[in-house]
Amino acid sequence: MATYNAWRVHEKDGEYVGNIETLDTADLPDGDVLIHVTHSSLNYKDALSASGNKGVTREFPHTPGIDAAGEVIESSTDQYTVGQQVLVTGYDLGMNTPGGFGEYIRVPAGWVVAVPKGWDAHKAMVYGTAGLTAGLCVNKLLKAGANPEQGPVVVTGASGSVGSVAVEILSGLGFEVTAVSGKPDQAEYLSQLGAKDIVGRDSLAPEKKPLLKPQFANAVDTVGGGPLAELLKQIKPGGSVACCGLAAGMQLETTMAPFILRGVNLLGIDSVEIPLPEKHEIWSKLAQDWKCTVTENSAKSIGKEDLNDALQAFLKGASAGKIVLDHSV
Ligand SMILES: NC(=O)c1ccc[n+]([C@@H]2O[C@H](COP(=O)([O-])OP(=O)(O)OC[C@H]3O[C@@H](n4cnc5c(N)ncnc54)[C@H](OP(=O)(O)O)[C@@H]3O)[C@@H](O)[C@H]2O)c1
Repeated sequence: MATYNAWRVHEKDGEYVGNIETLDTADLPDGDVLIHVTHSSLNYKDALSASGNKGVTREFPHTPGIDAAGEVIESSTDQYTVGQQVLVTGYDLGMNTPGGFGEYIRVPAGWVVAVPKGWDAHKAMVYGTAGLTAGLCVNKLLKAGANPEQGPVVVTGASGSVGSVAVEILSGLGFEVTAVSGKPDQAEYLSQLGAKDIVGRDSLAPEKKPLLKPQFANAVDTVGGGPLAELLKQIKPGGSVACCGLAAGMQLETTMAPFILRGVNLLGIDSVEIPLPEKHEIWSKLAQDWKCTVTENSAKSIGKEDLNDALQAFLKGASAGKIVLDHSV
């Protein structure tokens, strides 16, 4: 048993407020592996959890944090040994299981991944769920046959956590990347990540026509809603759109035209419940061939007391790049 600090959210009269509290590891749920979390990573979903979105977190008080990395303290399985550096993303972590915004988590062994060779916990959390998701999007596009010769690939929500990593991986693979972003002040950052063209969100403003001039061979979409419907109209015949997010909305109102007249593929991405081997494949690519140096060098570290402001920025669509929670700050 040990006490530790966690950023925990309480519900009071319909308001959700997060504070740093001292908790006891004895109160963590049962599980195979107790992890001393040194780092977590910030995601849009954490902002939803912390603001009381019941689709993400049903009961409060609750410790958010869908990502965690650190050192194994206790393990009831020989898969993981005491002292080993590990990471956890997805499954129920930070949703209804206390997550990485606390300095300890206890989870099933089936959720745990060894930190890739050459990485430490900080680097693992520079990528986190967002990096994993960006990697899954790119992987699915490649498996669908995407290649740089087909023409430009477009990334929406390009300055966000998932979008920014997707831009860097794709440009590293030789794709000509168009970044769609609502943040003119992030243009220089997007260029550093490798974006060739940067266009505003108005490029995906609502149009009545069921199809528009095909401009992009393939796409990574992190925003969903109306912009995704418009994007589908601009994909070249046979192209693919890997879609993972809903920052612009849950509803997708489209026609059949992109699918039956241009053979466009809409590829859904889930980073949460997929089997561990699929996660392993992406983590090892991110640690090797898909290494994102600009993302690694520009990630911001914050402490627990900065969480409230940083999570609010996600809800306003104002967050940019990767943010790591460092529990030692
Ligand atoms: N499927 C999965 O397993 C999975 C995994 C991770 C994340 N996600 C989802 O993916 C999405 C992105 O996550 P994230 O962590 O990257 O969030 P994020 O950092 O907040 O990035 C989202 C970006 O979308 C853009 N955006 C925000 N509101 C918008 C709006 N109303 N219309 C158009 N664009 C808007 C902004 O970029 P610009 O200002 O550059 O336009 C924003 O930075 C979220 O919906 C998240 O829940 C899904």
